[in-house]
Amino acid sequence: MELKWALLLGLFLPSCSGCSYGYVFHKRKCVDEDECAVFPVLCGDHAQCVNTEGSYYCRCHEGFEMNLTGLCKDINECKDAPDVCGTNGSCYNHHGGYSCRCDQGYSNYGHNQSKCIEMDCNQFGPLSVDHTPEKLKQLMSLLKKSCESLNDPHREHLTGEELLQNVFNSTDELLTEGTIADGETLNQFLDAVENSMRLIGPQLKEPVTRMETHNTVAEVAVMRNQTPPSGRVTLSTDSALFNTSWEIVVGKSYPGFAFAALVSYKDLTSSSDLLHTISRERPDDEERGVSYQLNSKVVTAVVSNAETKQLSEPVMLVFTHEEERAESEGMAYSCVYWDADERVWSGRGCKKAESNSTHTACSCSHLSSFAVLMALYPLQDTFELVLITRVGLVLSLVCLFLCILTFKFCRSIQGTRTSIHLHLSISLFIADLVFLCGISSTHNQVGCGIVAGVLHFFFLSVFCWMLLEGLQLYRMVVMVFNTTLKHLYMYLVGYGAPLVIVIISAITFPAGYGTKRHCWLSLDRYFILSFFAPVCIVVILNGFVFIITIWKLVKHFSSLNPDLSSLKQIRNFTVTAVAQLCILGGTWIFGFFLFQEKGTEVMLYLFIILNSLQGALIFIMHCLLSKPVRTEYYNLFVRMCPHKKKAEHSTSSSQKPLRSDGSTAESQI
Ligand SMILES: *[C@@H]1O[C@H](CO)[C@@H](O)[C@H](O)[C@H]1NC(C)=O
Ligand SMILES: *[C@@H]1O[C@H](CO)[C@@H](O)[C@H](O)[C@H]1NC(C)=O
Ligand SMILES: *[C@@H]1O[C@H](CO)[C@@H](O)[C@H](O)[C@H]1NC(C)=O
Ligand SMILES: *[C@@H]1O[C@H](CO)[C@@H](O)[C@H](O)[C@H]1NC(C)=O
Ligand SMILES: *[C@@H]1O[C@H](CO)[C@@H](O)[C@H](O)[C@H]1NC(C)=O
Ligand SMILES: *[C@@H]1O[C@H](CO)[C@@H](O)[C@H](O)[C@H]1NC(C)=O
Repeated sequence: MELKWALLLGLFLPSCSGCSYGYVFHKRKCVDEDECAVFPVLCGDHAQCVNTEGSYYCRCHEGFEMNLTGLCKDINECKDAPDVCGTNGSCYNHHGGYSCRCDQGYSNYGHNQSKCIEMDCNQFGPLSVDHTPEKLKQLMSLLKKSCESLNDPHREHLTGEELLQNVFNSTDELLTEGTIADGETLNQFLDAVENSMRLIGPQLKEPVTRMETHNTVAEVAVMRNQTPPSGRVTLSTDSALFNTSWEIVVGKSYPGFAFAALVSYKDLTSSSDLLHTISRERPDDEERGVSYQLNSKVVTAVVSNAETKQLSEPVMLVFTHEEERAESEGMAYSCVYWDADERVWSGRGCKKAESNSTHTACSCSHLSSFAVLMALYPLQDTFELVLITRVGLVLSLVCLFLCILTFKFCRSIQGTRTSIHLHLSISLFIADLVFLCGISSTHNQVGCGIVAGVLHFFFLSVFCWMLLEGLQLYRMVVMVFNTTLKHLYMYLVGYGAPLVIVIISAITFPAGYGTKRHCWLSLDRYFILSFFAPVCIVVILNGFVFIITIWKLVKHFSSLNPDLSSLKQIRNFTVTAVAQLCILGGTWIFGFFLFQEKGTEVMLYLFIILNSLQGALIFIMHCLLSKPVRTEYYNLFVRMCPHKKKAEHSTSSSQKPLRSDGSTAESQI
């Protein structure tokens, strides 16, 4: 009725004003009439009235369509498009809309106008393995509960965003705990993340959702059109970029939505146990002693397409390196994924597309969890290096042998300091000899372990004797009275302490002695620290002792009547001891960096040269630069060459009393 009146009025008005239909007379002009404003009921309840120049039209609300009478009428979506809810959901038509109710075991993820698709909540289901971390079990039961509540319309359920936050809170705790140490747990963890993405992705409302928690970053893109989306989709977190096409994301069947997700884990510590699992795939590498390290965060890429074992077109992943390093002769990057069946990092189906010092681009023909692996090729021992080492070590051995003879038989210098030097030289002599003969005898595992143990013991012993020398110097300066160290105590420190360290090390990790390349301590489980930690302690302690000694010396020198000759002598001793500390300690500082696998060629050469010349340097410092020793050498020389005896008679006679009573300045101290 209202409608008819309006139409009649509309026809009547123009004739009155003199303007044509759809115009009104206003300020002496015909202007367009806004029919929609004048007659709000023109289009009925289910349409919007749109004014145009000289006319108007009605636009039906969503869910309505215009019938022959020009009025908007509800569309029965359930009848028009029987597949609108899928084959396993029931469609209910409402005035201006419809909704789907899914059968048991199917869900439309909270979007009541989407197709019902199969949902198996048992995949979150009780984990069969006993040693699954508690947090992972909790995460799975949370997922299972949300999954079950999804196809029960009467149950409250978390929104996709809330669920994602909850899941990431759980993964954060798991990652922080560091309980993901074996392949089985890593499998379960990555599975849980992938499944939770499949559960959460379709529930998200926004086209792009980004979530960042302490240890996990994710970006999820969702499309929800009637027709499958097309074009490219790019997701990125701070550690990786994932670039693919929507066609790959959708796959063969399109359930009314599509999503792609990229999750990166900040702290998925790739323990060395997990890394070693790659070796099986590359037997050659194992022989060459290649070691591996991940140089990117681990990321998981998930798409709504469930068939991701063999994609029709490879996806692109660009990783940001954790450590800025370019490929070189000694290092190559490769793209790997976590092979859940074999429980190894594997390169199958993944190609490195490009790499520079900061990024590696990978092209993969399947989807799962990926990372960039750094293969470190050991520096090949070149011929020159071997030669330098051999020559240097032989020279060292000769010098040390001379040192040992001197310290043992040169009577003018006998005393505590000389005993210490004697044992230091013996230890270094044996260590160098074993090093020369045994360092490369890797073919015999037991023998190699023993060589490593002996080297460990004697190199440690060298440092312990050096510590004793520092202590002795300190006592000489600080204690007013002349002092000697009891031999028993010296042996306890010089040989006992290294023995204890070696025994403890051998009991805790016997496999640490001997590696595939050298008969030396292994880098696994930080075993090498059983050598470097004591060395560092000795170097630091000695440095400390020397500082105090020098300080006291300076004070003595400036006292009222200093005993100049003995003070000068102690000063010389201190200088040699500091030099010795620098040579022995410094060598192993280079050695330390060398064994960190970051060693450069320069460091290698410095280490080798210093190491092989240690003996020679000790000989020069303690024998050639020491006046009493030089004198004795001279006497020996004279005695062996009798024709020179006459000329040097006076010198030799003046030395005799010193030798006979054995109480020189040095031996008193
Ligand atoms: C058009 O829609 C109106 C209002 O819903 C309805 O009364 C009428 O029967 C419909 N006419 C046709 C031909 O479908
Ligand atoms: C889902 O739909 C298919 C096809 O109509 C049917 O064969 C199947 O039994 C249905 N599943 C359930 C659980 O109703
Ligand atoms: C369908 O979902 C919308 C919001 O997503 C909600 O307002 C509406 O009540 C739901 N309808 C049914 C029948 O559940
Ligand atoms: C996640 O953890 C943060 C901080 O640990 C907390 O503030 C937040 O409420 C947690 N969110 C959920 C959904 O549990
Ligand atoms: C993604 O890949 C396509 C095709 O390989 C390329 O054209 C596009 O530039 C890439 N996008 C990004 C952000 O790398
Ligand atoms: C390395 O590659 C990435 C991506 O391919 C690029 O964005 C970056 O600028 C490159 N860096 C350098 C130093 O060439």
